[in-house]
Amino acid sequence: MTEIETEQRRPGTELAAGVLDPGLYASDPHPLFSRLRAEAPVAWNEEHGFWCVAKHADVSAIGFDHQTFCAGQGILVEEIGVIYETPPTMMHTDPPAHTRYRRLVQPGFKPSVVRALEPAIRARARLLVEGLDAGTSVDVVELLSVPLPLQVISEIMGLPVEDWRRFYDWSEAVIPGATDWPEERRNQLQGEMITFLIDLTKTRRDSPRTDVLSELARAGADGDMLSDDELAMFLVQLLVAGNETTRNLISGGLVAFAEHPGQWQRMVADRTLVATAVEEMLRFTTPVVSFMRTATRDSELSGVPIAAGEPVLMLYASANRDEDVFGPTASVFDPGRHPNPHIAFGFGNHFCLGAALARLEGRIVIEELLDRFGSVEIAGPVERSGSSVIAGVRRAELSFSPA
Ligand code: HEM
Repeated sequence: MTEIETEQRRPGTELAAGVLDPGLYASDPHPLFSRLRAEAPVAWNEEHGFWCVAKHADVSAIGFDHQTFCAGQGILVEEIGVIYETPPTMMHTDPPAHTRYRRLVQPGFKPSVVRALEPAIRARARLLVEGLDAGTSVDVVELLSVPLPLQVISEIMGLPVEDWRRFYDWSEAVIPGATDWPEERRNQLQGEMITFLIDLTKTRRDSPRTDVLSELARAGADGDMLSDDELAMFLVQLLVAGNETTRNLISGGLVAFAEHPGQWQRMVADRTLVATAVEEMLRFTTPVVSFMRTATRDSELSGVPIAAGEPVLMLYASANRDEDVFGPTASVFDPGRHPNPHIAFGFGNHFCLGAALARLEGRIVIEELLDRFGSVEIAGPVERSGSSVIAGVRRAELSFSPA
């Protein structure tokens, strides 16, 4: 292939070169995403060898077609070329294995089960919101967004809720780029977490309770039973996915309100906006920035040929600002936006298992804050992590005024 042919086949290399840069995510990745959508919606990252996919239609097409774009060869760029003996999470599986896992775990997260959790979640949220003083700078990450989802997911799973700070360290250790911790510390914490979870599950096998741990520990209706490795896979995923994402939905969403004067007051005046506001927080913050798939056969995205074996990175955060779907206001934070076909929870067979729970937590937090506070403003530093996977907010100093 001549150089010109290579360049034709692999567009956007210059733009895609910066797509994993931690500095980009610590500041604002959207100017780059916007250029990718306009100039090279399917762009090749030369250094790691993967396609960046920036448009809503292409990201959805990948998520929808697991036969052409599989999850089994990794979902993170750092997994390119890694071969696992057993899948580290259910997100790393494809049908039929994925269908089996989903069947086993789905009952614990169906909408009726989640709805029943509302009083318990509200009580926890209220307590945390009562700890936020009006008229002074408060770090909502530390005081609200970190503890709430961790306490909620611990309670649902049946983990000792009072240990939530330990679970925080464990789950931070799993997310690439979330912390500056050395690899050794991350591995040690992850090992600790797996041992703890497996040991606790074994205890629940003998004396079951009404929690997800006990549910997973026993066989399904058809006698199907998870092995210890599979159990560890589920539990780690539930613990991590159940808090890192919702945490950043709350932090990022509150920062968005603080940065857009007048939008909080719109909700104060009209509480029916809370439902659309939660969807807009999901779209605007897109807590899961990106996940990867691998092409199982030759195909094409936006006219760009994709060869079998090539990884494709779905940039959910870019898709959620796609002007072709969200129009000229795509980059505007509008809590009243409707319709809002964002894909913050992914698309297709891996559609987020915890979507109903995350939406409920988001709604409750907003309602509890609206009960107490009439406005929210930026009061100090907002620090973002450099992760290209999770849109992490490490610190957000905000100030609320009384209702
Ligand atoms: C704002 C909050 C959340 C966001 C933005 C989010 C986002 C996502 C996304 C984008 C995926 C798709 C992964 C893929 O396609 O590979 C996913 C899957 C998943 N999420 Fe969430 N999530 C959130 C909250 C939660 C919560 C609270 C739970 C707790 C149980 C959870 C559990 C899962 C699980 C288990 C999967 C894998 C599903 C599968 O492979 O079939 N998520 N999530």
